[in-house]
Amino acid sequence: MIRAAIVGIGTWGRNLVAAVQGKSEVIRFVAGATRTPAKAAEFCKQHGIELVDSYGSLLSSKNVDAVVLATPHSMHCAQIIAAAKAGKHVFVEKPLGVDAASAAQAVEACAKNKVTLAVGYNWRFQPALAEAKRMLEDGRLGKLLHIEGNFCGPSAYRFARAHWRHDRDEVPAGGMTGRGVHVVDAMLYLAGHIGSVFAQSDRLVQDHGADDTTSMLLRFKAGATGYLGTVIATAETWRMQVFGSKGWVEVGGVEHLHTWEMKACFIDPAEVVRKRQPETLTFAKTSTERAELEHFAKAAMARRPIALPGGDEVHNVAVLEAIVRSAHEGKRIAVD
Ligand SMILES: NC(=O)c1ccc[n+]([C@@H]2O[C@H](COP(=O)([O-])OP(=O)(O)OC[C@H]3O[C@@H](n4cnc5c(N)ncnc54)[C@H](OP(=O)(O)O)[C@@H]3O)[C@@H](O)[C@H]2O)c1
Repeated sequence: MIRAAIVGIGTWGRNLVAAVQGKSEVIRFVAGATRTPAKAAEFCKQHGIELVDSYGSLLSSKNVDAVVLATPHSMHCAQIIAAAKAGKHVFVEKPLGVDAASAAQAVEACAKNKVTLAVGYNWRFQPALAEAKRMLEDGRLGKLLHIEGNFCGPSAYRFARAHWRHDRDEVPAGGMTGRGVHVVDAMLYLAGHIGSVFAQSDRLVQDHGADDTTSMLLRFKAGATGYLGTVIATAETWRMQVFGSKGWVEVGGVEHLHTWEMKACFIDPAEVVRKRQPETLTFAKTSTERAELEHFAKAAMARRPIALPGGDEVHNVAVLEAIVRSAHEGKRIAVD
């Protein structure tokens, strides 16, 4: 059993605790720290979590094996490095960081101190995405040609002006930082690393805060192409469609953590021009948050790494950085 501490006890920190507390045999939250303890006192009491006065106290505690970071984006890398130096395993919410150099340093600090680092990309635990990957691996979809994705919602309207979610240093390229990185991670899982991006990003609705309308063209190193969009001043929706040389699959819905269906449509080789109707595949309901935390806990107990130098987690931040540059410079940017 991994004894975890929750750091940042806001919306998502609470969701992560609720996903496993009293339900898991491999991870349990025993302690927590947050900027404004008074806001989290009742929640911690309900969940049997000792609320301590600082992050430093958690890192020096002998009762804590791992920290789970659900803090603003710009804090992640420094918090990871401090945890690695203290010998604590780290589960950090996405994105790993907002610049690739700091993200690489954070991953290297974990490797050097032999602690497990995982990034909260819960889409990888969606059964539909796993099935799409199997379909590519076993040839049912044929050669991967193109992926389209979007992840949108009314985030721009949700927070008061002073909230960190409106700070352009926390959310460069608008919805890409909070939402689009999930789609990029799913794309990396299916298609491998991205070679270059072309992006447009604008604030079209409000007079303050992050960009609300961001769209991108992607070129994967293996040759496939992709589109990606994030609009954060509209109603909630997400979608990913994966095109292969034998057919396509599409997954999406309103709530990204609760979508249990996927449409699939394949060419009939004997009658290529016939317009076939897609079939609907249904998957068992699962908690992707519990699955990702248990995956992390099992790896930490086995002292097995998850995020590695040169891996998808740092590459995702490099893609984000290239998107920010491309939107600024108005040209295609190679992902370093
Ligand atoms: N995987 C997913 O699907 C998913 C979904 C949502 C969010 N997330 C991620 O989870 C992380 C946290 O997001 P959230 O929505 O939970 O945010 P949130 O509700 O604003 O919570 C942030 C927490 O961090 C604390 N904090 C510490 N230092 C802070 C500072 N300098 N400025 C602001 N807050 C500070 C806040 O303390 P106070 O109590 O004092 O505000 C709060 O407890 C982010 O990385 C986000 O991208 C992931």
